[in-house]
Amino acid sequence: MVATGILGTGAALPEKVITNFDLEKMVDTSDKWITERTGIKERRQAAPNETTSTLSVKAAKKALEMAGIEPEQLDLIICSTISPDMPLPATASIIQRELGAGTCCAFDLAAACSGFLFGMTVVDQFVKTGKSKYALVIGAELLSRYLDYQDRSTCVIFGDGVAAGVMGPVNSSSGILASEVHTNGAFADHLYIPAGGTARPATCETVQAREHFIKMRGNELFKVAVRSLEEVSRRVMEQANVHAGDVDLFIPHQANQRITNAVCERLGLPAEKVYSNINRVGNTSSASIPICLDECVRSGRIKKGDLILMSAFGAGVTWGSVLMRW
Ligand code: ACO
Repeated sequence: MVATGILGTGAALPEKVITNFDLEKMVDTSDKWITERTGIKERRQAAPNETTSTLSVKAAKKALEMAGIEPEQLDLIICSTISPDMPLPATASIIQRELGAGTCCAFDLAAACSGFLFGMTVVDQFVKTGKSKYALVIGAELLSRYLDYQDRSTCVIFGDGVAAGVMGPVNSSSGILASEVHTNGAFADHLYIPAGGTARPATCETVQAREHFIKMRGNELFKVAVRSLEEVSRRVMEQANVHAGDVDLFIPHQANQRITNAVCERLGLPAEKVYSNINRVGNTSSASIPICLDECVRSGRIKKGDLILMSAFGAGVTWGSVLMRW
């Protein structure tokens, strides 16, 4: 049986930087509070003419180039996003068209911050069964379009960004060794956008009530996130029969530096084995892990043969872990 690996990565970040000092001018917050409570110093914000699909196409082209794969060779495109270009059609359709990727299967996947790992897990099934050879997974979020810049508890956390991975068959000594993904809908109302869907279609009243923006019970999510990330990371390591000491690099979803620190302490992972860029990009939801991956691949931080653990937690609530040999 073949294994599924990542053949190329690419990222696209908007140019505009929003610093904590910029936010101090918009809401009652401070650089000190944001830095100490989250680890974030700045994040990116998309320009009005940028969309989830335009940045996705940029990231995808870089990933395809690194993989040495032509768009027509793709037989699966998954766009993980909770901030699509529009409700209909799927952003993956627009990406497919702009890439010139023929008529391959292309769909959106909504699992918030865990979405890239959900996407990798889906692709793993398609590649292992031979249903797909080359697949493109994109983590793409323009959450600034759903942020209430009057709500200090959310607007300081999220940033915009996109990153992609081209996946395909690799020698079975590398690739995905174990993966696990979960959802617990009992916490569905802990992080949500109340209006704009079938439950509360858009009206003048929903807009006036600011119901099209993200609402989050951050404090309660924090505890669930730490517990879930620890458990699922342990489970994939157990499945692959490896220990935390064997892991060369841990790439956690960049939700909050304090969440990362708590999880690493519980898993016994030292800081030098943990990647973090939250200070520069904030929480980019499903783009968070692939942006980190791309930075690590391009900077040489990830080397052939390295054991990489990736774990994420997000709205839904969703969580998951992928362990792979590079
Ligand atoms: N600046 C200053 N003060 C603030 C700010 C701010 N930006 N935000 C909140 N506060 C205040 C609160 O009002 C509160 O004040 P009070 O004590 O007077 O009531 C105080 O700070 C503490 O608030 P908490 O919400 O308890 O702050 P906490 O330390 O928990 O940090 C945070 C908040 C950063 C949101 C944290 O809870 C967190 O990161 N939670 C996890 C989020 C997460 O993982 N989400 C899932 C992934 S995202 C996705 O899926 C899209």
